[in-house]
Amino acid sequence: MGFPENFLWGAASAAYQVEGAYKEDGRGLSIWDALCSEHVVHRENGNTACDHYHRYKEDIAYMKQIGLKAYRFSVSWSRVMPEGTGAVNEKGLQFYIDLVKELTAAGIEPMVTLFHWDLPFALYQKGGWQNSQISDWFADYARVVVEALSPWVSYWMTINEPQCFVGLGYEVGIHAPFLKEKAALKEVTRNVLLAHGKAVLAIRRYAKRTPLVGMAPCGPIFLPKDGSPQAVEEARRKTFEKADGTSNIPWFCDAPILGTFPEGVEDYLGEKDIFTQSEMETVRQKLDFFGFNVYHAQSEGTPDYEGTSFTGCPRTASGWTIDSEVMYWAVRFLYERYGLPVLITENGMANTDFVMLDGKVHDPQRIDFIHRYLLALEKAIEEGYPVIGYTYWSIMDNFEWAEGYDKRFGLIYVDYRTQERTLKDSALWYKEVIEHNGRNL
Ligand code: BG6
Repeated sequence: MGFPENFLWGAASAAYQVEGAYKEDGRGLSIWDALCSEHVVHRENGNTACDHYHRYKEDIAYMKQIGLKAYRFSVSWSRVMPEGTGAVNEKGLQFYIDLVKELTAAGIEPMVTLFHWDLPFALYQKGGWQNSQISDWFADYARVVVEALSPWVSYWMTINEPQCFVGLGYEVGIHAPFLKEKAALKEVTRNVLLAHGKAVLAIRRYAKRTPLVGMAPCGPIFLPKDGSPQAVEEARRKTFEKADGTSNIPWFCDAPILGTFPEGVEDYLGEKDIFTQSEMETVRQKLDFFGFNVYHAQSEGTPDYEGTSFTGCPRTASGWTIDSEVMYWAVRFLYERYGLPVLITENGMANTDFVMLDGKVHDPQRIDFIHRYLLALEKAIEEGYPVIGYTYWSIMDNFEWAEGYDKRFGLIYVDYRTQERTLKDSALWYKEVIEHNGRNL
């Protein structure tokens, strides 16, 4: 059986991580532009990044060479609406129109994420995600983007990893806006979820072709200790019950899909009844797929769980454990709980890539990594769990947030001094996989 014939083999990126051109053609600043330098390794930032804004045609030519069927990218809110609300920056919007046209001409399905963490700084100055107006601002921004891009775009994701930008941005303080204010979490959670719901409504209302809508969350997946039914139930319970921080799947996924708010979260926030019934109806909208970013299992131990790591266990250059069964269990647990076809919106690894003496970038670790995660994905598909695609993170090396440019996840190597691109061995290997629709794995 294997991968379905129309499987979306892809790769992913996000605006702030690749575009650069941070104040060109009328773009406004985002919170990352304004606040990140002193928090990022080597004081790096995304001012130039991969210069994708100017080089998108070259980059799409590489995507075509790899044979990608899909490319997931995000739109920079402050490029399209420099103040976050009101005036539209036509040149900024035109960039994305040109991008999706070029992708379509190359036979590559564009998949748009509306928000991948780069909140307009002007909105942050008005309270950002803590301002109750933000869900309406976001819905209006969604309308603008959808009206412009929907002639070419079917796949839409509202928000990337709320678990991460809310937790790391407002509680842990290592992502923009670099706050450590647990007290902000309730308002931010409410506003993010309402923004999601209102954006889904805007997408469905303004799309010029039938849209397929989801979000791209993340969160810890616990692996069963053994194959027994008890161990599977135990792992499922831990995956969906744990709520000692925002890094938790139900926190941001139950309300949009199931229309309920997990008790554990209310306990953590010290608040009951986060949403009124009518607000919950806004948050809960029909979705077409469950996007999920998955890199590793719950690897480090917790009070009631041993974790999958062990002394000397395989790890990526980020220190993340390599435990590919997580791909199978993620698809299975998520489908069984939420009942939506799964789209793997991110999966990948940082590696110590460099251009070798022969001028090539040999990255056998990444080939093996993708290979074993895809085998686990195939196992889930063969057991009947619906999976519509896989977009590897990332299409090219890029600005990895707090990690700056040191962590290289790309299929394409980027020399940041010259912006020269080199296809890594893994890109050429992935090309073969796509050509064979995974039958050669
Ligand atoms: C995901 C994000 O959390 O992981 C990506 O959606 C990110 O934007 C990727 O780049 C890798 O994580 P990191 O922390 O190394 O940038």
